[in-house]
Amino acid sequence: MPNKVIATVVGARPQFIKAAPVSRALKDSFQEILIHTGQHYDYGMSDVFFEEMEMQKPNFHLGIGGGNHSEQTGKMLIELEKVLNTIKPNILLVYGDTNSTLAGALSAAKTNIPVAHIEAGLRSYNRTMPEEINRVLTDHISTFLFCPTDVAIKNLAKEGITNGVHQAGDVMFDALLHNLTLARKKSDILFRLNIAKSEYALATIHRAANTDDKEKLKSILDGLASLETKVILPLHPRTSKMMNEWNLSVNKNIDLIEPIGYFDMLILQENANCILTDSGGVQKEAYLLGVRCITLREETEWVETVEAGWNILVGANSQLIRDSFVNWFPKTERIKFYGNGDASVKIAEILKQI
Ligand code: UD1
Ligand code: UDP
Repeated sequence: MPNKVIATVVGARPQFIKAAPVSRALKDSFQEILIHTGQHYDYGMSDVFFEEMEMQKPNFHLGIGGGNHSEQTGKMLIELEKVLNTIKPNILLVYGDTNSTLAGALSAAKTNIPVAHIEAGLRSYNRTMPEEINRVLTDHISTFLFCPTDVAIKNLAKEGITNGVHQAGDVMFDALLHNLTLARKKSDILFRLNIAKSEYALATIHRAANTDDKEKLKSILDGLASLETKVILPLHPRTSKMMNEWNLSVNKNIDLIEPIGYFDMLILQENANCILTDSGGVQKEAYLLGVRCITLREETEWVETVEAGWNILVGANSQLIRDSFVNWFPKTERIKFYGNGDASVKIAEILKQI
């Protein structure tokens, strides 16, 4: 067994997806200890991804889900420090921009363990977004910063961070390439939902700025209701909770379903005539799969998709949602922004040099 130990902190849906290819690439050189904070805990938000991608079970599960930001992050910090003092890893690895990311990075930095951040350097330049705070702070306490794009490298340079910065490509592209073939074999979601290629749009909504503002959430649902197509909407638990609280219902063209596994999600994305989303990962997957994306936000971290003409930012404006759906179509070839699908291998190679 390799004698170098890497501790990985994950907790939210997109982090399980990102960690799967990286864990595979690290296997020969590191003993990986997986710490699940418990931030996402429903079967469809967590276990399903471990099963589909045949990931190792977490060595530690902290069981910290729900609660407000300070409570959630604070509880994670308390428990993570105990775990890190026990396992004393050589490196701690975190992904993305969630509260689990920040808690992992901060607890490692305070116990003098070097932090490796995958998906470093992304910025929305909107400091009211909890994720923006998590990203900035994590980047500033990381030793290894793995950027998915050239824009991310430039963003870090603007903040004076140039040491330990690597452009390895995007591990989500690795995940997509690895799982799309499997998904095509295993998923029967089109049959289950009785839909066919290009005959529906796919939507996801979970960003706090949209879900926690009744007018915005209603306006997005009105926008989706105005589309003359079926809309499949796998609903994030945060969004269903807020829709219940505000008594918001959906028009009959919208098919509300539970959150789905990654295989089903890839198939729904690949076959949609349009994707409407406020997710970071889904915007990028839309681009990688060649599906036009209408982003339900005012800004994005994945600016290259907008500049390339495959993504349009409409916020929560129902009229813009409808107008873009009807009139806006990409006109250009896609450029390869996210590497070659070997980001995980490149990252593992760099970490191995330690
Ligand atoms: C979190 C991340 C966000 C990421 C998203 C991925 C932060 C600040 N936000 O947002 O960046 O895009 O995950 O999906 O870390 N809930 C359940 N069951 C679950 C998980 C959540 O019912 O399995 C409900 C709970 O009521 C919880 C709420 O959803 O309080 C919000 O969950 P939380 O993890 O705090 O934030 P997300 O909105 O999921
Ligand atoms: N995803 C999924 N099932 C769903 C919704 C999303 O598997 O019901 C996947 C999606 O394909 C992408 C990732 O989850 O790989 C994105 O996660 P999410 O939108 O929750 O978070 P974000 O990327 O915005 O942080």
